[in-house]
Amino acid sequence: MRTQVLIVGSGPSGLLLGQLLSTIGVETVILERSSRDHVLGRVRAGVLEQGTVELLEEAGAAARLHAEGLPHSGISLAFDGRLHRIDLEALTGRHVTVYGQTEVTHDLMDKRDAAGLTTIYEAANVTLHDFDGEAPFATYDKDGVTHRIDCDFIAGCDGYHGVSRRSVPERALKTFERHYPFGWLGVLAEVPPADHELVYANHERGFALCSMRSTHRSRYYVQCPEGDRVEAWSDDRFWDELRRRLPEQTAAGVVTGPSFEKSIAPLRSFVAEPLRFGRLFLVGDAAHIVPPTGAKGLNLAASDVRYLFAGLRDFYVEKSHAGIDAYSGKALARVWKAVRFSWWMTTMLHRFPDTGDFGQRIQEAELDYLVHSRAASTALAENYVGLPY
Ligand code: FAD
Ligand code: DHB
Repeated sequence: MRTQVLIVGSGPSGLLLGQLLSTIGVETVILERSSRDHVLGRVRAGVLEQGTVELLEEAGAAARLHAEGLPHSGISLAFDGRLHRIDLEALTGRHVTVYGQTEVTHDLMDKRDAAGLTTIYEAANVTLHDFDGEAPFATYDKDGVTHRIDCDFIAGCDGYHGVSRRSVPERALKTFERHYPFGWLGVLAEVPPADHELVYANHERGFALCSMRSTHRSRYYVQCPEGDRVEAWSDDRFWDELRRRLPEQTAAGVVTGPSFEKSIAPLRSFVAEPLRFGRLFLVGDAAHIVPPTGAKGLNLAASDVRYLFAGLRDFYVEKSHAGIDAYSGKALARVWKAVRFSWWMTTMLHRFPDTGDFGQRIQEAELDYLVHSRAASTALAENYVGLPY
């Protein structure tokens, strides 16, 4: 088989790139290791920057998002027993949209199916060949047979554990990493949210986040010790811990109910540079991971896609290499700013093993400064709604 751009991974970055390329008539094939149901079963991000929404519009995949997504013009920081609102819209003129990653993925898959574009699910042992030359190709196993796909370019959209980054010789990559000594325990429940906007809470017992997927579905997180197991967290224990970390008035608004999803995510910052190796590009989580505190992971994947799409459009439409040559530098400049923001939000809001009483007071002083200084609130708001491209 032959295609123009071979995409590895059918997460949001691979699907979005495929959809955008189809709008300019560039052929793609997606190779995905898992089944469609498995990909759709993963509960992950929930907050979209306006730029991400605009890109989904450009891909023709934003109709349901506009019908069902919740525009949010602010967030609250909770500390010192009170909520302090950051008015994103007043400070930046922009807002964010609450719409689950699962729904984004669903919409993009539906679009791809409707256009009759090829996704090969359950493709095992995907292997990338000759991407340092002019004629790259990939091989994979399916139903006991090894197949080959030739292409012009390979887009590695296969997440942190994917094959793309691992296919690059170690000496060609520089990696940067920070580990955080805790995780996030997340719960989904069919109950109305505690507040109409998101609440990020700093508390002596640890961080907590009140989020949502709709007006009747809540997503909550609490910081938990590294190595904790989900089985140790009954629903009752989770709801009790969550309420203890929230201001009284917010805790009183928490409606409890049975959780239908509960998982623990580790927190880390990771960046691999550069993002291009000949005819292979790294995109999204394949190249970088941020701790979830700034809601940036999915949005960064989308911004990589925006730059790579522009580069491939230059190549196919204008016959110019300029865009693909610029991809890595442009994408990484934005990546590092989001890495910094996510690290800063994580540092300010979580309890670290060495935080202690002094650290707690410093965090509270920083938060107090932040909510009372227009300059500091604006700095947070600009990053939260998404920096310019
Ligand atoms: P992925 O979504 O990881 O997609 C990669 C795809 O490639 C997957 O479908 C995978 O099956 C496939 N694949 C992997 N290996 C291979 C292979 N060898 N061959 C073929 N296919 C392969 N971000 C936030 O902003 N907020 C959050 O709350 C949040 N929570 C998260 C919780 C968890 C547990 C995780 C892991 C991530 C979370 N993120 C969150 C980050 C966000 O979900 C990611 O940034 C986003 O999914 C990146 O999209 P992607 O398409 O680059 O990668
Ligand atoms: C969600 C996740 C985040 O990491 C965040 O900062 C805000 C919301 C969520 O899953 O809803």
